[in-house]
Formats: sequence, structure tokens, C-alpha cells
Amino acid sequence: MNYDYEWFKKAVFDLTKIDLNAYKEKQMKRRIDTLITKYDVKGYEVFADMLKKDKDVLGTFVNYLTINVSEFFRNPDQWSLMDKEMVPELIDKFGKNLKIWSAACSTGDEPYTIVMLLSRHMPLNQINILATDLDTVAIAKAKNGVYQAKEIAGVPADLKQKYFTTNPDGTVSISNEIKSRVTFKKADLLRDPYPKDYHLIVCRNVLIYFTEEAKDETFRKYYEALAPGGILFIGATEQIINYKDMGYVRKNSFYYEKPKG
Ligand SMILES: C[S@@+](CC[C@H](N)C(=O)[O-])C[C@H]1O[C@@H](n2cnc3c(N)ncnc32)[C@H](O)[C@@H]1O
Repeated sequence: MNYDYEWFKKAVFDLTKIDLNAYKEKQMKRRIDTLITKYDVKGYEVFADMLKKDKDVLGTFVNYLTINVSEFFRNPDQWSLMDKEMVPELIDKFGKNLKIWSAACSTGDEPYTIVMLLSRHMPLNQINILATDLDTVAIAKAKNGVYQAKEIAGVPADLKQKYFTTNPDGTVSISNEIKSRVTFKKADLLRDPYPKDYHLIVCRNVLIYFTEEAKDETFRKYYEALAPGGILFIGATEQIINYKDMGYVRKNSFYYEKPKG
């Protein structure tokens, strides 16, 4: 048997159901090889065996693989446009009971940013966000809602004062008022069924790791998941090249609309 990267991808799929074929190969392989070197093991076969036997190593591997860097109000210009354009437009079309999905939410920074931003437009108890990610370690951190001060550096001062408290160890906790507006679930964008009739889908900084085919398929699935008139909000460095073929209308480089009927 040739225990090469092709073999390892299958072993990872059997163990985790994560399909490494859908991620850009060069980048992913380099990350995995770096981790294997850190564990000081020889080759994919030994490492796969370690993953099978040690749940902690498996958890670390999935967490490392999924690259869950995030921060509150990441790319502030995008949030500013969401505040001034996107949200008023959505309220105009759908009212204030908006169905919003933060897909690949990582450690919660993004869905909590959405809640805080919407709190400027509507009462908190009207806000409900679905937030999903593949990585259960990231979701556990999101639910816990405790961050390093630097992770919330981008939060506007009034919101920081209103919704965060500083802990004795210097970390900060987000308030239960904000936490309670988000429902976190584990979901794999490549495998699990997508929800339906969403007014806003926020999916930033994850599809950059996918192959072109997987990316294309995901954008098409988001189209199906949106209600007519709904908006897809993507990362600052991303774009949908063949948006027209998929049926989207481009409103801006990072936000696209599913036209109404
Ligand atoms: C770089 S973070 C982006 C977090 C946040 N959206 C942001 O922009 O700050 C990428 C996230 O995508 C998640 N992810 C990777 N592959 C995924 C998949 N197939 N399904 C769901 N989430 C995935 C990772 O676990 C990670 O939390």
C-alpha cells in the first residue's frame, strides 16, 4: 500500500467525514505536513493511526485544519456598508424579522458582530441568527463567549461598553443578551443540507480554501437557500466570478442579491 497524501485524504474522511478533496490541495497539504512535523511522526500512516487512537490529537488536527482565525468587525468597511445599505434594504424588503445565517462562523466573532450591528436597527429580542461551523472546538468557544481583548479591538466603543465585561484575567466576556440571539450548530458546508428561505447569508473567509468546483457548488447552494430578494455577503477579498450564470445580481464586490421573481 502506498501511504501517500491520496491515501491520507481517504483516512481523514473515514475518521472525520471531512472531504479534503474539496480544499485547495497545495495549501492544505502544506498545513498538514507542518503539523505532522510538529508531532514528530514519520509519515501519513503513523499520523493517521495517532488520529484514530487519540481524541485530543484528532481535535487539534480538525481545529488546525479548519483555520478558524476570526475577529469582531473584521474588515470594518464591509460592516459599515452593511449598516448603511444592506440592513436598511433588507428591512425595507422583509421587515424586521430577518432570517440570517452566519455560515462558517468560527469562534462566534462574526454572528455576534451581526447581532450588535442589527441592535442599532431593531430591538435585540427581534434578532435571531443561525450560526454554523464544521469545527466543534470553535463552536464551543463561540458558545462560551470569552475572548482576548485584542479579538474585540474592532468593536465600536459604545457597543464594547454595552455588551462586554472584563474578567480578572484580562479576557473579556460577551453579554448573555447578545449570546442568546445566536443559535450555534455543527454543519459541514460540503455535506449537510442547507436551510431555506434566508434573507441574509454571511459566508466570509472560508471558500478561499475550497477548490473552484467546491466554491462554485457552494455559491449555487446559497442561491437555493436564499429567499427571493435575499442577500449573500462574502469576504472582502472574495468575489463570485460567474454570478450571472448562477442567477445573482451583483450589488457590490462582496454582496450579491437573489432577484425577486
Ligand atoms: C477563517 S475562518 C472564517 C470565520 C469568519 N467567517 C470570519 O470571516 O471571520 C474559516 C472557518 O470555516 C470553517 N470551515 C472550514 N471548512 C468548512 C466546511 N466544510 N463547512 C463548514 N465550515 C467550514 C472553519 O472551521 C473555520 O471556522
